[in-house]
Amino acid sequence: MTLPPNVHDAEPIPAAARDAIDALMQSGDLFRYTAPQDAPVALLEAEFAELLGTKFALAVSSCSAALFLSLKALRLPRDARVLIPGFTFAAVPSSIIHADCVPVLCEVGENYRIDMADFAAKLDTVQAVIISHMRGHTSDMDAIMDLCDARDIPVIEDAAHSLGTTWHGRNIGTIGKMGCFSFQSYKMINAGEGGILITDDADLVARAVIMSGAYEHNWQKHKGPHGDNSPELEQAFARWQNKLPLYNLRMSNLSAAVIRPQIPELARRVRDGLKNYDYMADRLNISPYVDVPAPLAPECRAPDSIQFNLVGMNESEIRAFAAASESRGIKVQVFGLSEDNARAFWNWQFLPETFELPQTRAMLMKACDVRLPVRLTREELDVIADILLASVGEVTGPVPVYGT
Ligand SMILES: Cc1ncc(COP(=O)(O)O)c(C=O)c1O
Repeated sequence: MTLPPNVHDAEPIPAAARDAIDALMQSGDLFRYTAPQDAPVALLEAEFAELLGTKFALAVSSCSAALFLSLKALRLPRDARVLIPGFTFAAVPSSIIHADCVPVLCEVGENYRIDMADFAAKLDTVQAVIISHMRGHTSDMDAIMDLCDARDIPVIEDAAHSLGTTWHGRNIGTIGKMGCFSFQSYKMINAGEGGILITDDADLVARAVIMSGAYEHNWQKHKGPHGDNSPELEQAFARWQNKLPLYNLRMSNLSAAVIRPQIPELARRVRDGLKNYDYMADRLNISPYVDVPAPLAPECRAPDSIQFNLVGMNESEIRAFAAASESRGIKVQVFGLSEDNARAFWNWQFLPETFELPQTRAMLMKACDVRLPVRLTREELDVIADILLASVGEVTGPVPVYGT
């Protein structure tokens, strides 16, 4: 019998990272602002802005730090209300609280995307919006931008899981005023920890750069598009010099050295991730007890995990399914059933206000999460699909097979 694959390890880091790290070890030059120019972090920012097609990028210690700095850069007043989906990671409402603002949660549908009716109903009560494209599932950005632009409400895209995803061919993270990405493990580019913020707005990036820890005149090492000096950026830095607190959320050169050699791998990872996801979705959707929601039409995804809903099963059957999968070697997380899950909104007991989101709660009680690292082969995908379908069958009786 073929053993179930290890779905926890990511891809090896490209060998080129080792040379870059050796050079840093030799020079001891780990701080991004020591070198007069071309520090690995500065090079990463230029490369990432180029990759995404934005004017500015700021590399920081995490995506959470990027979200926090985005909110601070927007100059929201204390206690400003910020709308987020009720299905996201606990770090997202946490970043809002850290910025002295108040998270407001809206409903999410069975397809893991923002419920636009609840979003529209709550929009007039908030001053900013963070769209978490949770697990890489893109919400309806056309409708969201229409509603927010009409009210002049700034949109921050939490694209932690969306590096490589496009919407009408446009990169996710470039649609709102600012986009934030994660380089934490289990993301398309893995540095263990790390994040990056992108924007076309010189004033916003200047504020974020200074608050990220560009003390004194270190902001001079941040350039405009294509690494050029940018008069609008310099004017923005001059405007904010000495006027902002320093939160010191910088990225180290070591992280940038791990990230940069992965950028040329991204297109392949996106292609393989999507191919694997579509194959797995087709196999799982054969079962009437499993539903892998379809993408929205303008969306082209870059998945490194798969989510699916169990259909027509009660809670004890869902628990039995998860136990059966685990005993066969594949761990399935049911978001709403695993204890203290950081993606279940009722566990965010640090929120200043509580929200009852019956639709999101119902989805979380049957939504399953399985890692699908892009390096998996077709044979390994088949082993995973066989285990999941056999586990469904163990609970429901044999799975009918159509069309073969
Ligand atoms: C949707 C979402 N947003 C933000 C984050 C925070 O990312 P980081 O760990 O880089 O702070 C995560 C973490 O996985 C996440 O899942």
